[in-house]
Amino acid sequence: MRVLVVGGGGREHAVVKALKKSKKVDKLFCAPGNGGIAADAECVSVKATDIKGMVEFAKANGIDFAVVTPDNPLVLGMVDALEEVGVKCFGPNAKAAEIEGSKVFSKRLMQKYGIPTAKSEVFDNAKDALLYLETSEYPCVVKADGLALGKGAIIVNDFEEARAAIDEIMVEHVFGESGNRVLVEEFLTGPEVSVLSFTDGKTLVPMVSSMDHKRAHDFDMGLNTGGMGAVAPNPYYTKEIQEECMQKIFLPTVRAMNADGRPFKGCLYFGLMLTKDGAKVIEYNCRFGDPETQVVLPLLESDLFEIMLAVADERLGEVEVKFSTDSACCVVLASDGYPQKYNTGYQIDLPTLDKNEYIYIAGAKAEGDKLLTSGGRVLGAVARGATLAGAIDKAYKLAGKIHFENAFMRHDIGRRALEAIERK
Ligand code: AMP
Ligand code: GLY
Repeated sequence: MRVLVVGGGGREHAVVKALKKSKKVDKLFCAPGNGGIAADAECVSVKATDIKGMVEFAKANGIDFAVVTPDNPLVLGMVDALEEVGVKCFGPNAKAAEIEGSKVFSKRLMQKYGIPTAKSEVFDNAKDALLYLETSEYPCVVKADGLALGKGAIIVNDFEEARAAIDEIMVEHVFGESGNRVLVEEFLTGPEVSVLSFTDGKTLVPMVSSMDHKRAHDFDMGLNTGGMGAVAPNPYYTKEIQEECMQKIFLPTVRAMNADGRPFKGCLYFGLMLTKDGAKVIEYNCRFGDPETQVVLPLLESDLFEIMLAVADERLGEVEVKFSTDSACCVVLASDGYPQKYNTGYQIDLPTLDKNEYIYIAGAKAEGDKLLTSGGRVLGAVARGATLAGAIDKAYKLAGKIHFENAFMRHDIGRRALEAIERK
C-alpha cells in the first residue's frame, strides 16, 4: 500500500516510524514532513492545510491510504476531500472533527448527553461576557471557541485578568475567528490525564494513558507551550478510573457523536481532569496528541497500519490492539526562547540509538547531509523502560547526547508521575 501521512512535526515522525514497521506499507510519503522525517518517508512539499494540493498529490501518486494527523486539515475537511477521490483515510471528516474545532459544540454535546465536564457559559459578544464575569467566581477559565494553536484557554484570577482575556480573544481577535464566541468555564483541579483512543464509531479502544507537560520551564513554570515532554502510562490513571471513564465518558461520547449524525472515525483524544467528583473532560481533540503520541506509539506492539485500516473499514473490533506494559518518556529539546522568540539554523548532532531509544524530529530542515534547527520544538528524545524511573533516566541520558546551539529542555519531565507512584 502507498500511504501518505499529513503533517510535519514530532508526532508525525512517531506515526511515520510506527507505520514503517508494517509489512503492508510499501511506500510512505509525508506532507510536508521535515528534514528528520525525510530519513523515514519521502517528504512532499504540500502544506498540511492545502486540501486541493493534497488531493492532487494523492491522485497523481496513487495514494491508497492517508493518515491526516493535525487538527487544522481535519477541521477544514481534508478527509472528506480525499475520500471523495477514493483515498481511504484515518481521521474524522469535518463534521466529526467539530468535536475539537468548536469548544461550544463539544460543550453542548457533553451537556446534552450527560458527559462529565466543567460547568460553562457561552457568549457571542464581549459585553455579555464581561457582564457575567463581573459577578462570577474566580479563578475561572476563558476559552476561545475555535482552534487556537493550543493557546485558547486562559485561566483568570480576577475580573481585571478576565477583561484582558476577553479583550485579547474577542476584541483584538488574536485567535482570529476562533474568538467570535467564548466559553467561561468553572475552574477544575486535579491531575490531568491524556487518553488517546482508536475508534471506528462502533468500537472504542483506549491506548495507554499519558501525561503531557505543557509549561515551558521546570516545576510547571513559564508559558504554555505545545508540550515540553510526556510520560506513559500516567500513574494517576488506575484501572478503576479507566473503567469509570469508559462507561461515563468514552462510550457515551462515541454514542453522542453517532446520535448527532457525526460518527467519529480516527483517533479521539480525551483530555481529562481527575477531580474529587470523578473524571471530567477538559477537552477533546480529533487527533493524536503531541507530544503524547511520541510516548504512546513506541509502546504499541500491534501493527499500527492494520489498526488504522480497520478503523477506516469500521472493523476495529476484529483487530488486535496490544500495548507493552513498559513505560516511556519523551524529553523535548527546544530552541532557547520558545514559545516566544528564538533563533534557528543551528546544526544538530545526533547520537546513534540503542534499543528502546527513539528520536522524533519536530522542527529541523536538511541542508546537504546536515540537519539544522528550524522550529521552536526541535525534537523529542524518547526512551522505553521496564519502569517509569528507568525510562525517564534513559530519555535524559539520550537527550544529553544530542547537541545543538541554544538548546533547552525541562529537567523534571515525569517528576510528578514518579511522585505519584511513590505515594501509592
Ligand atoms: P485546553 O486548551 O482546553 O486544552 O486547555 C489547556 C489547559 O488549560 C488544560 O490542559 C488545563 O491545564 C487548563 N484548563 C482548561 N480548562 C480548565 C478548567 N476548566 N479548569 C482548570 N484548568 C483548565
Ligand atoms: N498535547 C496536547 C495536544 O496535542 O493538544
